[in-house]
Amino acid sequence: MIAGAAIRHVPATSPEEYLSRIGMATRHSVPSPLAMVVNYPSNPTAQVVDLDFYKEVVRFAKKHEIWVLSDLAYADIYFGDNPPPSILQIDGAKDIAIEFQSLSKTYAMPGWRMGFAAGNEKLIGALARIKSYLDYGAYTPIQVAAATALNGPQDVVDEIRAVYRARRDVLVKSMAQAGWEIPAPEASMFAWAPVPERYREKGSMEFAKDLLIHAKVAVSPGIGFGEYGEGFVRVALVENEHRIRQAARNVKKFLTQGTNMAPSDLSDMAPAK
Ligand SMILES: Cc1ncc(COP(=O)(O)O)c(C=O)c1O
Repeated sequence: MIAGAAIRHVPATSPEEYLSRIGMATRHSVPSPLAMVVNYPSNPTAQVVDLDFYKEVVRFAKKHEIWVLSDLAYADIYFGDNPPPSILQIDGAKDIAIEFQSLSKTYAMPGWRMGFAAGNEKLIGALARIKSYLDYGAYTPIQVAAATALNGPQDVVDEIRAVYRARRDVLVKSMAQAGWEIPAPEASMFAWAPVPERYREKGSMEFAKDLLIHAKVAVSPGIGFGEYGEGFVRVALVENEHRIRQAARNVKKFLTQGTNMAPSDLSDMAPAK
């Protein structure tokens, strides 16, 4: 948008649907799209993809001469045995793709504005040129911290991953006990939760507002991520396990008593010390 592009939104209820809708959008767009964004593991849907998906993306992008911008911010936040794949594992991907990674999640450094990009030489060159006009590089202590994180022992990454996995497990289990079935995300720091049946008509925004006011639980309404996010809310795994259980207790009361709950019915949701 900063460069004057018009953004086209397409549904991404599954990676396959995303690709097929991109195909349709490409055929119907004049002028043809310049670039497409892929973000798996996804924020907000927590979907993951395999190498076959990226193979198809590379084939499609080459055919239509579209740059691929792959956002791999959750490269290290996965809960299965294998890390999420990189588009750069596909032969010829560097002809059309650039991939971004961030230290925000892997090393718990959000807000430090530190990450890196790899891939197509022309795009990396353009990024380096723009960066050199915008700033003189990141603040030196942050560069030193980032180098230390990248070059030092990596057990901390396993620890961070284990923290998110434990929170995910507590979230899915405690919310199910509260009457809210949330599919277990395979990666990322989010769960993409269907709005409970009773709230479907009212929509994700009303549900999120009522949850906040009556259960003291903050979630992001799916509609905030675009029109195709309706019907879901995004739950972030940013609170500790104890607080997630507290939240589930409140959600349970909210789902059984609705908006008639008295504030005294709530667990104490004061921030953990
Ligand atoms: C998919 C995705 N990409 C990028 C970012 C931003 O990363 P950074 O903090 O490095 O700007 C986030 C953070 O929320 C994210 O979820």
